[in-house]
Amino acid sequence: MQETFSLVDHPLVQHKLTLMRDKNCPTAHFRQLIREIALLLAYEVTRDLPLAQTEVQTPLETMQAPILAGKKLCFISVLRAGNGLLEGMLDLIPSARVGHIGLYRDPDTLQAVEYYYKVPEDISERQAIVVDPMLATANSLSAAITRLKQDRPVKIKVVCLLAAPEGVAAFGEAHPDVPVFTAALDRELNDHGYILPGLGDAGDRIYGTR
Ligand code: PRP
Ligand code: URA
Repeated sequence: MQETFSLVDHPLVQHKLTLMRDKNCPTAHFRQLIREIALLLAYEVTRDLPLAQTEVQTPLETMQAPILAGKKLCFISVLRAGNGLLEGMLDLIPSARVGHIGLYRDPDTLQAVEYYYKVPEDISERQAIVVDPMLATANSLSAAITRLKQDRPVKIKVVCLLAAPEGVAAFGEAHPDVPVFTAALDRELNDHGYILPGLGDAGDRIYGTR
């Protein structure tokens, strides 16, 4: 297992994820739950953000107090299911910048096909947190990170909801320098590259397209 792999086992995350896995979870509830989990995952993935000191005038006196250092971080959403996680991350960090990488997984080859790429011009001065709920074969996230690395963010981390052991291994081979945070590590992939037990197709469940 990748050294930089972190399982977020907070009880609230685990409880909400169980509700999402239920095939009868309605679309609106599914979307709300992924947003809530994303906020909790954002809390974990930002634990090591650097702090600086700033002077603040309280009603009683002046003090030196901690404040986030450097440029605001950037969330990168892997379209389209990444947008489900993005909303909750922005609830916690509304001033973050946002980039998008459009990828879909070819259903026959399971290879990622890029159709869109837009990140902030000054991404090379920012930390990037890439969000996509599913790490299955890892083809999509590996391709997203390979593309993003061309623009040299200060640091890259990945946040997903569910990961398959096959995907974690493949991603670790491709990008051993990129930490992965996930809410669960499931059992395996099926023949169509779906995570078991999983939650189905994340994009379809967030947007009710199937
Ligand atoms: C899903 C998911 C990931 C990818 C994971 O996207 O959101 O991006 O599959 O699978 P992988 O690890 O095997 O690449 P999908 O291609 O279904 O596109 P969508 O988000 O537009 O629905
Ligand atoms: N993409 C999904 O949305 N779900 C899976 O289980 C695998 C890839």
